[in-house]
Amino acid sequence: MAFDFDGVFASRPVILAPMEAVTDAAFRKVCRAHGADLCVTEFVRAENLVNQCRREQTKITLGPGDAPTAIQIYGSDEEHLAEAAEIAERAEPAYLDINCGCWVPKIARGGAGAGWLRSPDAMVAMAKMIVSRVALPVTVKTRVGWGTEESMPIVDLARRLEDAGVRALTIHCRTAKMGYSGDADWSWAQKAREVVSIPVIVNGDIRTANECKRALDQTGCAGAMIGRRAIEHPWIFREARSRLDRKGHVPPPTELERIALCCEHLQAMADDRGPGRAVRAMRQHYPGYLRQVPNGADLVRELNAIPSLDDTLSVLRQELAERSTCVTPVALA
Ligand SMILES: Cc1cc2nc3c(=O)[nH]c(=O)nc-3n(C[C@H](O)[C@H](O)[C@H](O)COP(=O)(O)O)c2cc1C
Repeated sequence: MAFDFDGVFASRPVILAPMEAVTDAAFRKVCRAHGADLCVTEFVRAENLVNQCRREQTKITLGPGDAPTAIQIYGSDEEHLAEAAEIAERAEPAYLDINCGCWVPKIARGGAGAGWLRSPDAMVAMAKMIVSRVALPVTVKTRVGWGTEESMPIVDLARRLEDAGVRALTIHCRTAKMGYSGDADWSWAQKAREVVSIPVIVNGDIRTANECKRALDQTGCAGAMIGRRAIEHPWIFREARSRLDRKGHVPPPTELERIALCCEHLQAMADDRGPGRAVRAMRQHYPGYLRQVPNGADLVRELNAIPSLDDTLSVLRQELAERSTCVTPVALA
């Protein structure tokens, strides 16, 4: 079924952010099961997709049930980006997102990601070209500016990107130069939102359901995007959704739910990426998933030291069995 772009953005979606080496199919499944309204893939390098690299092809493969998911592409060459957009479109994502916000020097210095913010004219021309080459909605994710401008370009850029045919704009409310330092200033999302009629999605430092509501209320944005908090607490999506829909406080995940999620996520990742990579990649999630679990730090240490999938699963299942006989309530901070 075709993605109802306008309908979804009219319902204040809470969106899983694109995150390289995190937002793979297994993690999208986890976040969707916990209430994410929309997901975006890890960024996909345009040149590699055009050159048929296997890793990039895997990144754009959306399996059954992996919807709505947008595919994000990045690159510094507009023709490569346009070709990549045509290829990604065939994977039938909800829409295509162009990364104009990655600040990492090896990407931004070469002109990709936030590098586009150094030449707004070129960014707008590139977006216009991509819009002309695909039928799917095209969106842009960017930051408020490069970081040395006298006034941030995001407001003018928002207007110009809308004129270029971009259908929505996600704003990580920091400059590229800030990286992750300082605080995200959501007022930039509000200022941009005020001058366009396309949906603007506010992003940066949303860590709780209350913060999600505040970000949307303060900015009037159409949706909110959550990145780092989801890595440790994917329950944020159902908590935020419930808060936005005035459905009341969602009880925090129990000790058993937390351990069960480790099993499910690990298994889903192993199915997709193989056992070795799954065991290693899960290590970024254990500290958050198990933070509120009694003796969780010991369990994290134990899991991090186990090299095999089967042994990891058996430790987790044993923990589940032992703890299900003496469950204690878990209080979230
Ligand atoms: C590990 C990691 C990988 C990221 N990869 C991407 C990416 O591929 N594309 C992108 O647009 N942003 C990427 N980001 C930035 C996030 O999408 C988001 O804009 C940023 O983390 C701010 O949101 P947050 O405060 O909710 O984390 C990444 C962030 C992290 C932490």
